[in-house]
Amino acid sequence: MPFDPVQLEYSRLASFYDRRWSFYVQATVQETAQRLTIQPSEQVLDLGCGTGTLIHHLLAQVPEASYVGLDSSPEMLRVARQKLPEAVRLYQGTAEQLPFPGECFDVVLSTNAFHYFREPAQALQEMNRVLKPSGRLVITDWCHDYWTCRVYDWLLRWFDRAHFRTYGTQDCQALLLKEGLRSVVIERYKIDWLWGMMTAQAMKGAIASER
Ligand SMILES: C[S@@+](CC[C@H](N)C(=O)[O-])C[C@H]1O[C@@H](n2cnc3c(N)ncnc32)[C@H](O)[C@@H]1O
Repeated sequence: MPFDPVQLEYSRLASFYDRRWSFYVQATVQETAQRLTIQPSEQVLDLGCGTGTLIHHLLAQVPEASYVGLDSSPEMLRVARQKLPEAVRLYQGTAEQLPFPGECFDVVLSTNAFHYFREPAQALQEMNRVLKPSGRLVITDWCHDYWTCRVYDWLLRWFDRAHFRTYGTQDCQALLLKEGLRSVVIERYKIDWLWGMMTAQAMKGAIASER
């Protein structure tokens, strides 16, 4: 049994994650996809891909693009594998240490996973590193600007060992700029009375060692 609290949580959740979180996942995936334009020739990486819903959605829109998913939970990846065609490569790993060479993706995406990343700056550095020059980064996650999210964050910090922390639009912008990303645009929105979300878009900037 894994002792990492995130892996433990998702090993328990994987078999019913899609059913339990259906509304939330579909709504956030749609909000993310509608802010994206993917070209058929592009290489796309989904970090914290979970059961593969975002890739599944994008495949229906742009089937010619190449999709790669990475997640730390083998059980979530097992569900994703059943949903996605063989051509989609799936990796077990962590966002903070990506098993890919530099400058190999046109687009890096992540939905509903950033609040788990124990080392957010390191994860952003890795996203920046694997992006091609002028590559795009799109991250959707909970937004601390909404009071409902602040309350939920506070409760989860006490009661859920897998949870790490949420961010507001200003924290998120500061993190992205600090890691050298540029053209940062962050939109916040609600998908219902509870879930206050944000989608951050940015482009590859200079990597830390070049600054
Ligand atoms: C709430 S689920 C989101 C899954 C999917 N992106 C979605 O929107 O349905 C969070 C996912 O992030 C993964 N995760 C958490 N921390 C991670 C990390 N440091 N590196 C890679 N994956 C991570 C979890 O295993 C889980 O599958």
